[in-house]
Amino acid sequence: METTRRGLLKAGAAVAVGAGVLGPRTLLPDAAAVGETALRTAAGRSGRYFGSSAAVLNLLTDPSYADLITRHCSVLAPENEFKWALLRPVPGQPYNFLLADQAVAWAEARGMDVRGNCFTWNNSNPYWFQLPQFFNPGNALAVLEEHITTVMTRYKGRVRSWDVVNEATNGAGYYPTPWAKMLGPRYIDNAFTIAHRADPDAQLVLNEYNLEYDNRYSRDRQAVMLRVLDDLQSRDVPVHALGVQAHLAHHAVRGQFDPAKHQRFLRSVASMGLKIVITELDITDQDLPGDVVTRDREIAVAYQRYLDCVLQVPQVEGVVSWGLSDKHSWLNSSEERFEREDGLDQRPLPFDDRMAAKPAYAATARALGRARRAAPRTR
Ligand code: G3I
Repeated sequence: METTRRGLLKAGAAVAVGAGVLGPRTLLPDAAAVGETALRTAAGRSGRYFGSSAAVLNLLTDPSYADLITRHCSVLAPENEFKWALLRPVPGQPYNFLLADQAVAWAEARGMDVRGNCFTWNNSNPYWFQLPQFFNPGNALAVLEEHITTVMTRYKGRVRSWDVVNEATNGAGYYPTPWAKMLGPRYIDNAFTIAHRADPDAQLVLNEYNLEYDNRYSRDRQAVMLRVLDDLQSRDVPVHALGVQAHLAHHAVRGQFDPAKHQRFLRSVASMGLKIVITELDITDQDLPGDVVTRDREIAVAYQRYLDCVLQVPQVEGVVSWGLSDKHSWLNSSEERFEREDGLDQRPLPFDDRMAAKPAYAATARALGRARRAAPRTR
């Protein structure tokens, strides 16, 4: 690929300037030694997958991005196309499957698996969730059941893994999503049970953020998560995996991440018989100076540190990046964009806005290449 050689030169230059800022164990790889390995190939060597989210409109209108995703990914996570706001904009009207259908077809045409995100969340819900005549404690369970059953039946056998419940907890317990407000926390049981009935072969995931650090907030969230998973299992709720989003921040990976402690948390999850999916990896560079070489080098060190940690856990079955090129990162383009003080775009992903490989690509390939063998997949 024409862009890759360029990117590797740039990556090599950045690596040469200074590695190991986070300590000797995080020395960055020599980009040339990593070569042009596709990340899906690097992941496959330890029995894992590598994937990315993408908005299907970007895949259909930006050929260089489509090429990049095709080359490096064995899994596609449509970024917004399965969300309620897109599928169900108007109450009482037919579902709008236009974009979701295109996303699934795009992935299938390239032999990629699909991850679906998501059936319950606090965000990206349609306006009618706020109107009691359409959404209320009396009908919410039927609304949920009809939705999950319809969507999963349509994509049965075609979407391998679903984030059934997204961001359900906080440091104190359950997050007050619209579903929790209508149904109480047992909506989680309901959603997984309905999903399992709709497609018994699909992998059902509880997806959560901010579980990664060794700070008070993350530690509280980890404790809550272990308790919630334990409770779900005690009631035989069909949860198959924990999704660790891994929307990381450079300063936190540098100062508040303890690989041994994080592995301990992941092993606790694994000891419950659950798999772990890294579902939305990216690393913000808000705290770093504008200079691109420094930023890219530091972000790569953080990638290396994080991935070297999680990829030693056999039950971590794969890594999904939240976008692959900085050009299409939600951190630069969505309403929730996390702006840098200097107004520059963030550079949180393995490839730059021209699809050239950055040091973070080399770090990711290296970490995948030296990962511990994954436990066999069960779904
Ligand atoms: O498509 C419309 C466009 O027509 C309109 O002009 C524009 C105006 O703001 O909005 C566009 O939609 C935006 C969409 O992204 C596409 O860019 C939505 O407003 C915006 O809210 C949406 O943001 C998404 C966000 O979830 C909320 O759904 C991000 O792309 C997406 O990356 C982000 O992903 C979430 C995961 O699903 C769950 N975990 C956290 C992660 C980050 O928040």
